[in-house]
Amino acid sequence: MSWIREGELNLIERLSANILKAGPVPKHVAFIMDGNRRFARKKHVDRQEGHSQGFNKLAETLRWCLQLDIPEVTVYAFSIENFNRSREEVDGLMELAKLKFLRLLDEREKLEKHGVCIRVLGDLTLLPLDLQQLIAKAVVATREHNRCFLNVCFAYTSRHEMANAVREMAWGVEQGLIKASDVSEALLSECLYSSNSPNPDLLIRTSGEVRLSDFLLWQTSHSCLVFQSVLWPEYSFWNLCDAVIQYQCNHASITKARELHQDEQRRQQLEADHACVAELLHHHGNGKPADAPRRQEAVTEYGVRREARVKDFLDALRNKRDSFLTELASQAT
Ligand code: FPP
Ligand code: MG
Repeated sequence: MSWIREGELNLIERLSANILKAGPVPKHVAFIMDGNRRFARKKHVDRQEGHSQGFNKLAETLRWCLQLDIPEVTVYAFSIENFNRSREEVDGLMELAKLKFLRLLDEREKLEKHGVCIRVLGDLTLLPLDLQQLIAKAVVATREHNRCFLNVCFAYTSRHEMANAVREMAWGVEQGLIKASDVSEALLSECLYSSNSPNPDLLIRTSGEVRLSDFLLWQTSHSCLVFQSVLWPEYSFWNLCDAVIQYQCNHASITKARELHQDEQRRQQLEADHACVAELLHHHGNGKPADAPRRQEAVTEYGVRREARVKDFLDALRNKRDSFLTELASQAT
């Protein structure tokens, strides 16, 4: 099964899609694709077949998302906790991933035609080396595409991602690229694997489980969360429409909460800049208090210098990550 599943909506689906598109459509939808094994049991097929049909459903869902003008999708394909499953199941999932990323490389032209950029978010070093190399090759092959985005979370948990982001900031301080006082919520967001994406507007979990299971915990604090009882391989266009309607019903309050959070972040940053400047003036002003205009000017200058520092650090971090991927990709056979 291809990553890009061709096919048209039928008349009634098209009409419904057009009605939905008259309202606010999420720009980014995240899926916890849960229920593959229960589906396999229900259909009396083996577990691996359940996961394989789960992948097919992903390809079909991506097409529906494009037809609904949703340009970005993030999926939970393999949690770090999934390594605790039986050896046979983990090996099966690794094999499935190898097969699909190989297929992705064969479909390069089709992906280019549709402008699909595929990113993999997670700790690749936890994976078998041949899979790491294959993933890196696939990511490098599509990284310039920019019409739609698929983020595959593989060897991922949110806590691992956050801990990694904190380590990256510590590295920046160690290298003298940033100061400890530059560490902020906004900077941590920029150090996450998901830094190239806006936060999801809508997160959907299938199979009736009502937990986030360590998925995108940082990114979904202002997202619409929808829990649906359908098993992932049985997901339908109508389930997706239902989730989008729930997003539309909550759109105003989600937008308001995000705006309030952004205002609060700006206020916190300004407060932090003021505190740093106060300390600097105290050290360099021989204890004499600075007048208000001088202080304001110093805060503005400090903000400009901080932004330049942070930009250089983020460029260095991006280069470090790009070199890691490029090096891995070059080793792929
Ligand atoms: C959750 O169902 C599903 C997974 C752990 C694997 C999801 C993987 C895919 C859909 C394939 C994606 C592959 C690529 C390469 C993108 P479950 O196993 O927890 O089932 P259960 O909840 O019924 O036990
Ligand atoms: Mg499950």
